[in-house]
Amino acid sequence: RNSKVNQNLLEDFSFINYRNDLQNVDIVRKRLGRPLTYAEKILYGHLDNPHEQDIQRGVSYLKLRPDRVACQDATAQMAILQFMSAGLPQVAKPVTVHCDHLIQAQVGGEKDLKRAIDLNKEVFDFLASSTAKYNMGFWKPGSGIIHQIILENYAFPGALIIGTDSHTPNAGGLGQLAIGVGGADAVDVMSDLPWELKAPKILGVKLTGKMNGWTSPKDIILKLAGITTVKGGTGKIVEYFGEGCNTFSATGMGTICNMGAEIGATTSVFPFNQPMIEYLKATRREKIADFAKLYQKDLLSADEGCEYDEVIEIDLSTLEPYVNGPFTPDLATPISKLKDVATENNWPLDIRVGLIGSCTNSSYEDMSRSASIIKDAADHGLKAKTLFTVTPGSEQIRATIERDGQLQTFKDFGGIVLANACGPCIGQWDRQDIKKGEKNTIVSSYNRNFTSRNDGNPETHAFVASPELVTAFAIAGDLRFNPITDSLKDKDGNEFMLKPPFGVGLPERGYDPGENTYQAPPKERASVEVLVAPTSDRLQLLEPFKPWDGKDALNMPILIKSLGKTTTDHISMAGPWLKYRGHLENISNNYMIGAINAENKKANNVKNVYTGAYKGVPDTARDYRDEGIKWVVIGDENFGEGSSREHAALEPRFLGGFAIITKSFARIHETNLKKQGMLPLNFKDVADYDKINPDDKIDIVGLKDLTPGKNLKMIVHPKDGEAWDCELTHTFNSEQIEWFKAGSALNKIRNDKAK
Ligand code: F3S
Repeated sequence: RNSKVNQNLLEDFSFINYRNDLQNVDIVRKRLGRPLTYAEKILYGHLDNPHEQDIQRGVSYLKLRPDRVACQDATAQMAILQFMSAGLPQVAKPVTVHCDHLIQAQVGGEKDLKRAIDLNKEVFDFLASSTAKYNMGFWKPGSGIIHQIILENYAFPGALIIGTDSHTPNAGGLGQLAIGVGGADAVDVMSDLPWELKAPKILGVKLTGKMNGWTSPKDIILKLAGITTVKGGTGKIVEYFGEGCNTFSATGMGTICNMGAEIGATTSVFPFNQPMIEYLKATRREKIADFAKLYQKDLLSADEGCEYDEVIEIDLSTLEPYVNGPFTPDLATPISKLKDVATENNWPLDIRVGLIGSCTNSSYEDMSRSASIIKDAADHGLKAKTLFTVTPGSEQIRATIERDGQLQTFKDFGGIVLANACGPCIGQWDRQDIKKGEKNTIVSSYNRNFTSRNDGNPETHAFVASPELVTAFAIAGDLRFNPITDSLKDKDGNEFMLKPPFGVGLPERGYDPGENTYQAPPKERASVEVLVAPTSDRLQLLEPFKPWDGKDALNMPILIKSLGKTTTDHISMAGPWLKYRGHLENISNNYMIGAINAENKKANNVKNVYTGAYKGVPDTARDYRDEGIKWVVIGDENFGEGSSREHAALEPRFLGGFAIITKSFARIHETNLKKQGMLPLNFKDVADYDKINPDDKIDIVGLKDLTPGKNLKMIVHPKDGEAWDCELTHTFNSEQIEWFKAGSALNKIRNDKAK
């Protein structure tokens, strides 16, 4: 049990630390005096301070030390730019970056990839050079989808990883806790700060029985989504248990954990088991499997008698295939009812496109089972009735199914093989078969089907199902088709039933790695130059923010008093702005443009209180900043809810903001603001929000004595009339106060290092 085992075959510097994790678990178990669930063991095994950490599920904030970080190409840009501004020579924990989100599907794999590489050259060059410089692994465009590559290469039982993508939980299929986060969290771990997570509640899902026929692992999560709805997993880890867990593949477990994101779960996990051992062996990681076996009882399984906050039971023997949608992944319809439900709801019955693959469902098993259905249809002289696309999850999968023939089967069927990338799943799809606005149905084996996600057309009714069912739908072309009960007509008009899918979970001849698409960081990194063109409009190096000047802030104008709900989408809009996510100056032009100005009830229209001119919010902020004027924002309740996007905190700081004063904050946004050296403050008496007029001026006093738990004073100077004051609360701890003083958390790290 004391041997040194590498976390993976690609890094010679990262090791599995089960012994340390187990020691931490023992400390916590003793303190809590109760058995622990498997997810708890992984979490508490990675605590920064297991002796003193307060632990109450659903209440405490845990300070954790994850094993590694994974970033996709869209979110990696700002994370790395921020990390660079901390002035550290290399990342503190193993990090990999994966080029998958920026590749648009147009005509098919090779051509699309080439086009994407040309279009995004400066981003890929930046990522390739910055990862080399700071000791991160880089997966080039064409290598595959982040979550598939993590499962194939990096995931191991008992690990804790964070990833800057919501479907990071996919790696729960190999018994690890993999949590999707925002870029700011990734920067914490890269810079050796502990990473904070609210101790999740644990939702136990007990699996009994064994699947058969047309049912596949995807149907477990599709059914669960129907039970819990899209919000049912919020603040919870889904932990699977029961003998049913041992009856299907690790990649199938990956699919289930992946889509736990659709019920809002923090993450999902299966306990270490035999199918995982087989998958580790098939991916040449037998050593890890053997090492994990030594810790299976103590560390890599739930303690006997552990308690879940709630339990849902699913019997796999009676589970039927599900089709979820349209427009939401929790609208679950079993295949036996779909005919009636689809007709009643007037959903378009004619299926236009079937799409298989993506990070959710592109395992060898998924591909083999889908190919088996197609072969059966081909034996009866049938081809795809709909358009049919295949997205291999990785180069390894693509090369292996090319070698073993499934890829040719898809092509003969009429399928288009897309690049090993996200493609239509993230809306990177230049769809040509219908016009925008045309009502139509598509069926995919992906995970998300919110309005417009895949093709930007709000009239597209997108359904998610298993790849097997999507393939059957592509053959039948009709949403009413149930392969379990309905027959098809062969080329001569004779009726026949499709055989249930079959296929091995793992390739008998082993995986073919295909083209080498990995760039390891060089040993000699000092001379590596990070490539950012000064003329670029997509990337810009970050200048460290100025430290606090040590004075109270007086007479500050209110940039905007925002009315009602202000999410991170209102603060830093997504859509076309995402192009600029690596360029703070350019993306700051979206600051608060979606928020409603309380003064005139308009969006992106605020008054410069010195000139009287009305302009957009970012323009006015910039005008203030350029005049050396600090400003504040006044906000309503739960300010900054929504995605954890760090730009929503970077932008106000970049534009010269000083404090954001609200009735309450969404916690992640509040922390992100603190990290950037801003002051997120709350009205002690929320009624004060109503007393503030947009052209009042604000003093915040007592900053020299900024202390955890001690309120600050705000003095309000109305344009006409008497000044009045009120108390502001804050949630700064002593470490975060240092961030404020230094100008940002990263400045603090840089200063400490200089000392
Ligand atoms: Fe990519 Fe879609 Fe997965 S966007 S990471 S394939 S959820």
